[in-house]
Amino acid sequence: MREFSESYLERTRDGMWDDSRAALEPLALESCNRILDVGCGTGELSRVLDAESNAEVVGCDADPTLLGAASERVSVVAGDAHRLPFADDSFDLVVCQALLINLPDPAAALAEFARVSSDRVAAVEPNNAAVEVDSSVTSERALEKRARNAYLDGVGTDVSLGSNARSAFESAGLDELETRRYDHVRTVEPPYSDAALLAARRKATGSGLADDRETMLAGGQTEVEYDELRGAWREMGRDVIDQMEARTYRREEAVPFFVTVGQIP
Ligand SMILES: C[S@@+](CC[C@H](N)C(=O)[O-])C[C@H]1O[C@@H](n2cnc3c(N)ncnc32)[C@H](O)[C@@H]1O
Repeated sequence: MREFSESYLERTRDGMWDDSRAALEPLALESCNRILDVGCGTGELSRVLDAESNAEVVGCDADPTLLGAASERVSVVAGDAHRLPFADDSFDLVVCQALLINLPDPAAALAEFARVSSDRVAAVEPNNAAVEVDSSVTSERALEKRARNAYLDGVGTDVSLGSNARSAFESAGLDELETRRYDHVRTVEPPYSDAALLAARRKATGSGLADDRETMLAGGQTEVEYDELRGAWREMGRDVIDQMEARTYRREEAVPFFVTVGQIP
C-alpha cells in the first residue's frame, strides 16, 4: 500500500473545496443520514462532508497514524477498502477522495463500497497526468512535468482514473449518474507560508525528488537520467529561493479532480 504523510496530505489539500463546492452537489449530502469516507487519510474530505450535511460521517483508512488525525474531525474506523468492516447497506452514501488512483483494482473497491451502501457511491479522483504548473521560475514548469511523468510511469496504478472513472463504476455494477469537474488550484505568492518555504528548500536540496527516486527508476528512468534531472531540479530550487528572497516568486498549480456519482441498481 502506498503511504502518505500527514504533512503531505495537509499541504496538497490546502484550500481544497474552500472556493466552490458545486461539484459535490450530485452527492445530495443534505439528504444523507450516514456517510462513509473510505481512504479518508487525515479527514480532509470528511470535514467537508460533515460541514455540508446533517449526517453521521465515518472515516475509514488502513493507516492508523492518519486515522489519528482524522479522528479530530469525525468518528473513525480502521479498515481495508476491499474488505470494509461494515454490514451490507450500513450507509446511504459511500465516497472516497484520491483513493482509487492508488489501488490496482479500483472496480473491486467500488463493488465493496456498493455492498455497504444502500443508495449511492461516489469517487472524487484526480487526473494526475493533466496537472498544470505555472511559475515565475522559467525552468520549473518543464522540470515538474518531466519529474511527474517519470514518477507516474513507475507508479503502476491508473493515476489518470479521475477523468474516466465511469468504466470502473460500470465494472462494479453501478449505474453512473453524473460526473463533475473541480480544479483544485494552489497558489504560492508573497507572503510565503512555512509550507511553501519548506517546499522550496526541498527543491534546492533535491530531497523531495529523492523520495521518488525508486519509483522513477521502476518507471524506466536510468540512474544517469535521474542524476541529470536532480542536478537541474536543485538549480531550479535555488532560483526559487532567490526569487522568494526578492519577494518575486509566484507559482500556480491546478489539479483536475472529477466527482463521479453512481447509484446502486
Ligand atoms: C492520497 S490519500 C487521500 C486521503 C484523503 N482521502 C484525502 O483526499 O486527503 C490515499 C489514502 O488512502 C489510504 N489507503 C490506501 N490504500 C487503502 C486501502 N486498501 N484501504 C484503505 N485505505 C487505503 C491511504 O492510507 C491514504 O490515507
